[in-house]
Amino acid sequence: MALRTKLCDVLGIEVPIVLAGMGGASNPRLAAAVSNAGGLGILGAAGCGPDQLRKWISEVRSRTDKPFGVDTLLPASVRRISGEPGSGPSPLDQLPRHEKFAEQFMEREGLVAAPVAGASVAAFSKDFFESQMEVVIEERVPVYAAGLGSPGPWMDRLHENGTAVMAVVGAVRHARRVSEDGVDVIVAQGHDAGGHNSPIGTMALVPQVVDAAGDIPVVAAGGIMDGRGVAAALMLGAVGVWLGTVFLATEEAGILPHQKQALVDSDEENTTVSRSVTGKPARLIRNKWAQAYTESGLDPLPMPFQGRISGPVLAAASAAGRADISPGFAGQGLGMIERIRPAAEILAEIAADAQRVLESAERLIPQER
Ligand SMILES: Cc1cc2nc3c(=O)[nH]c(=O)nc-3n(C[C@H](O)[C@H](O)[C@H](O)COP(=O)(O)O)c2cc1C
Repeated sequence: MALRTKLCDVLGIEVPIVLAGMGGASNPRLAAAVSNAGGLGILGAAGCGPDQLRKWISEVRSRTDKPFGVDTLLPASVRRISGEPGSGPSPLDQLPRHEKFAEQFMEREGLVAAPVAGASVAAFSKDFFESQMEVVIEERVPVYAAGLGSPGPWMDRLHENGTAVMAVVGAVRHARRVSEDGVDVIVAQGHDAGGHNSPIGTMALVPQVVDAAGDIPVVAAGGIMDGRGVAAALMLGAVGVWLGTVFLATEEAGILPHQKQALVDSDEENTTVSRSVTGKPARLIRNKWAQAYTESGLDPLPMPFQGRISGPVLAAASAAGRADISPGFAGQGLGMIERIRPAAEILAEIAADAQRVLESAERLIPQER
């Protein structure tokens, strides 16, 4: 593979393409498929309790002997759950109003309660996030990625284990903060991205983060779907890409059949940014749940409380295969998805196309005679 950058040396991979940590979707099968194909597979472990996380790490190790990573969230808002001084009134007071709203929505849509997958949402506490970090450290994973917040307090222990540390940022000031904390790689994730979302577009964000990051390698994320996007990211100063949506549309991804179909059926106009799922702005495929919040004028609760409200609704909708309610998170590159394919095929195609695009760029400059 000719497409090689500094990122390959930092992460021990062959091609500078990283599977984005996508909660639940980036499962051991998908992560191993990407790592085996020469990229870096990352487990989307945000919702995994410590036992499940250990199982996932063991499964990915059984499927690949290549480097892989684990992505969790370290939201600053967890402080508010434990009622630390200065954390203000608890959003728990608002829960009943939102629960009523969710109940009425379920009734209107004819949804029947179903088990909520993954960790109990009530477990989304400071202790929960910290217990995930203990597993990451005990298991000595090759790469750790913080999808939100900074892994600063864990940095020394991660580095002692030889774990490379990545952090996802959506603004230059966040990039500065994680640089000071000593991360090895910064992921600049722009507004085009699926899931938690920056207000700044990828095209504008990446070079500004590159300038702020100094010697720390920057990986671009948000709306990158093919070799053209990879080539563009490299031209903006990134040394690799962190790809979510394009790897959702794979045989391996841990999402439901109706959600895979929604990816194929949607285009670039079908996403919106909403706080209705996690409490933080997240890009998702337009749906009735996000729409109901907008129409109600109710302000979704901050993370992680909103998850307690949306979890049961989305679980019920998913059990019923309702793409109109739970199509899932996705980025603005959606229109480039035509069908569901194996992850390895997508990765090989993207790498080869990126190389072709970069080689052909020379033709843009008239040669002197
Ligand atoms: C279904 C889905 C779930 C996601 N879950 C997480 C997550 O748990 N942790 C995280 O750091 N980012 C999460 N993200 C954001 C991705 O890591 C990544 O930044 C984004 O998908 C990149 O943009 P793209 O989808 O346009 O490729 C998620 C994105 C999607 C589409």
